[in-house]
Amino acid sequence: MKVSQAPTALVVVLIGVLGGIQAVTLEVGDGNSTCIKAELSAVFSISYNASGSLRTVPVALPDSATVDPVSSSCGSDSSAPWLVAVFGSGHALGLGFSTNGTLYSVANLTLQYNLSDATVFPGANSSDVVTVVSASVGIWAPVNTTFRCLSNATFRLDTADITFSDMRLQAYMTSNDLSPNESVCSADQTPTPAPPRPPTTAPVPVPTPAGPPERGVYNVTQNNTVCLLAQMGLQLNVTYTDQSNKTIQEVVNVNPDLTISSGSCQANSATLILTQEQTTSLTLGFTLNSTSKRYHLSAVSLVANWPDLPANFSATNSSLNYLRSSLGHSYMCNAEQTLVILPTFSINTFRLQVQPFGVTTTQFASAEECQIDQDQMLIPIIVGAALAGLVLIVLIAYLIGRKRSHAGYQTI
Ligand SMILES: *[C@@H]1O[C@H](CO)[C@@H](O)[C@H](O)[C@H]1NC(C)=O
Ligand SMILES: *[C@@H]1O[C@H](CO)[C@@H](O)[C@H](O)[C@H]1NC(C)=O
Ligand SMILES: *[C@@H]1O[C@H](CO)[C@@H](O)[C@H](O)[C@H]1NC(C)=O
Ligand SMILES: *[C@@H]1O[C@H](CO)[C@@H](O)[C@H](O)[C@H]1NC(C)=O
Ligand SMILES: *[C@@H]1O[C@H](CO)[C@@H](O)[C@H](O)[C@H]1NC(C)=O
Ligand SMILES: *[C@@H]1O[C@H](CO)[C@@H](O)[C@H](O)[C@H]1NC(C)=O
Ligand SMILES: *[C@@H]1O[C@H](CO)[C@@H](O)[C@H](O)[C@H]1NC(C)=O
Ligand SMILES: *[C@@H]1O[C@H](CO)[C@@H](O)[C@H](O)[C@H]1NC(C)=O
Ligand SMILES: *[C@@H]1O[C@H](CO)[C@@H](O)[C@H](O)[C@H]1NC(C)=O
Ligand SMILES: *[C@@H]1O[C@H](CO)[C@@H](O)[C@H](O)[C@H]1NC(C)=O
Ligand SMILES: *[C@@H]1O[C@H](CO)[C@@H](O)[C@H](O)[C@H]1NC(C)=O
Ligand SMILES: *[C@@H]1O[C@H](CO)[C@@H](O)[C@H](O)[C@H]1NC(C)=O
Repeated sequence: MKVSQAPTALVVVLIGVLGGIQAVTLEVGDGNSTCIKAELSAVFSISYNASGSLRTVPVALPDSATVDPVSSSCGSDSSAPWLVAVFGSGHALGLGFSTNGTLYSVANLTLQYNLSDATVFPGANSSDVVTVVSASVGIWAPVNTTFRCLSNATFRLDTADITFSDMRLQAYMTSNDLSPNESVCSADQTPTPAPPRPPTTAPVPVPTPAGPPERGVYNVTQNNTVCLLAQMGLQLNVTYTDQSNKTIQEVVNVNPDLTISSGSCQANSATLILTQEQTTSLTLGFTLNSTSKRYHLSAVSLVANWPDLPANFSATNSSLNYLRSSLGHSYMCNAEQTLVILPTFSINTFRLQVQPFGVTTTQFASAEECQIDQDQMLIPIIVGAALAGLVLIVLIAYLIGRKRSHAGYQTI
């Protein structure tokens, strides 16, 4: 009697719960590489004894489920890979994997639930932590492919049913993202097409073109006196490898509106520190050679903590020789200039003018311009000279022509 009634009640409750549940992403990793990744929704329908009757409650795997780092593992020669997601008060879902080299499969499915949790199991007459296990459940796919099953798939585990949906999973991974090659479960292959699902992970992060940066005024003040003058547009070009070992180039403009300049000025060295919010700190160190009375940019360091970086990026080079000029002058370069700091980090400067030494007013001293600017200045001069030459040649040709035709008339 009870047994025949339970399934109907169960289905109604399940539909109600399935309507609002969200897919959860679970990942097991070893150091920096992922070996198991699962995106899935799951609902458990658990039966328990409560004050003389059998009750069945639906429990959804919540968003807050996390991989238990202690029980989960990528496996070794003697143990199999194991994904254990924990949620609520002492509940857990486990997926054990095995492979024979060409195929991998979910070798067993485990559900652990804590009957003491009165919010989930009201009136339970036991306070046990129950573990139910199912052997192979028919979830398998070729190695290096993603198992995909968007349809509902229900597995019976003694006192509980587990219903998965929206499932994509892969074990024995060789990259940190699910393989784009999918092995689709038979339920998804029925004529009714599976509902399209927006991809949850972008396949390749597309670097957005940064455009030229805004020019900022970055002076350094010490003892209420300006001691370093700087105006420039800055673009940082950082190369890093992401979690899946892919090389990514990120070009980021320094935004003057969000950047604070600070620093210090000594007799033979000056430092300009640009801090953009809590994410970027760029330090430019200038050195003055008091013998030759010339200065240059000698050191650059960057610490970046951008959201897409897998870890803090930091780079320093203290043996640079850029932006060379002489004491009593500022250095200017209007053209774009690339300062290579390290193989993984360069700075593009735009409309740059700096004066790190010998600052006496808030105005730049006369500028020494970079070679690119001087070359670019030559172009109008050359073009102008060429045009003047052309005009001269045309004029001479005209005069000669007139003289000839004049002479021609005379001979007739
Ligand atoms: C993870 O990557 C970082 C930076 O690439 C490296 O320093 C670290 O040693 C790596 N850790 C492991 C366990 O591979
Ligand atoms: C309920 O209690 C009975 C009797 O102790 C037991 O046989 C049965 O397995 C229990 N059911 C559940 C779901 O725990
Ligand atoms: C729980 O209730 C079942 C009947 O519903 C009963 O058989 C069982 O002995 C009870 N268990 C405990 C620990 O009280
Ligand atoms: C089971 O739930 C109770 C009550 O929420 C909690 O005190 C206990 O720690 C839980 N057991 C486990 C193993 O988490
Ligand atoms: C589940 O399967 C894995 C891999 O085959 C195995 O290591 C583990 O002991 C199994 N767990 C249970 C509870 O059967
Ligand atoms: C792995 O298992 C599949 C299915 O049982 C079988 O067809 C295949 O030959 C096996 N591969 C190896 C290398 O044993
Ligand atoms: C899976 O991919 C890895 C790396 O791409 C490769 O070394 C391995 O041979 C592949 N395995 C199979 C069974 O295709
Ligand atoms: C700044 O002022 C302090 C005391 O007011 C003085 O000791 C220091 O030498 C001054 N520094 C410079 C660079 O003028
Ligand atoms: C960024 O640096 C890389 C490597 O040095 C270079 O190939 C690329 O053109 C640079 N991008 C920009 C916008 O400067
Ligand atoms: C990343 O690539 C380098 C060489 O390109 C290789 O030595 C290293 O093992 C790779 N690391 C991972 C986690 O794939
Ligand atoms: C300073 O310039 C002089 C003359 O050009 C040079 O001989 C000397 O090595 C330079 N000093 C440093 C510390 O670079
Ligand atoms: C630092 O910059 C200098 C000059 O550009 C370069 O020769 C050197 O290789 C750089 N250092 C490193 C560690 O790349």
